Amino acid sequence: MQNQELRSSRREYTKGELLENEVPANPMDLFSDWWKEWESLGRPDTTAMTVSTTGADGIPDARIVLLKGIENGAFTFFTNYKSKKGSDIEANPMVHILFFWAEQERQVRVVGHATKLSFEKNQSYFKERPVGSQIGAISSPQSSVIVNREVLESEVEANNAKYGELGPDCPEHWGGYAVEPFQIEFWQGRASRLHDRLRYKKSHSSWSVERLAP
Ligand SMILES: Cc1cc2nc3c(=O)[nH]c(=O)nc-3n(C[C@H](O)[C@H](O)[C@H](O)COP(=O)(O)O)c2cc1C
Repeated sequence: MQNQELRSSRREYTKGELLENEVPANPMDLFSDWWKEWESLGRPDTTAMTVSTTGADGIPDARIVLLKGIENGAFTFFTNYKSKKGSDIEANPMVHILFFWAEQERQVRVVGHATKLSFEKNQSYFKERPVGSQIGAISSPQSSVIVNREVLESEVEANNAKYGELGPDCPEHWGGYAVEPFQIEFWQGRASRLHDRLRYKKSHSSWSVERLAP
């Protein structure tokens, strides 16, 4: 890839608009509308989102995880609590979630506090997953350095033999986070880079909305 090619890669954004007097008072209602439109396209990994964290070292980190629900206005995802993201959230529960939906020329930026889901919810979701995923979850010390792939595979083999078709119970270190947003920005691409940006902010449990320059 040449720099010249990178520099000349651009397009016009003309698919929609985002106007203050047309958006709902609650950003989760707008998110739900946008989500339905996105979901209807049936793209692979529709539920993928980027979750950014900043732990004790102050260095931002980001990775894709799958959105597993929106409950009581909070975005939920599942992971290993002992992973890098888990230790970051332990040190600093402030999380940024980012969605980019190219077809619709839309971006959504969510900032919120992450809290762990209850063990009951974790166990219930864990047991809904295929046994192979359950075994994978207990066999992988997510984010730890491992010597080679064989170590992982022999752990999987041992756990398959141990738990069989029933699979293991959910370990304490695996589960979900609910990210309760206090700020959500919606970005809709517009012509000539004059994009629409509406940012909702929550204060004393009510939302206000403001326009940002593109
Ligand atoms: C499409 C896709 C979906 C993923 N879904 C999850 C997920 O739901 N939970 C998870 O822990 N990791 C998921 N991952 C892996 C993460 O991106 C990441 O590698 C892993 O969670 C370790 O991140 P960490 O070391 O920053 O904690 C997914 C990766 C991709 C590309």
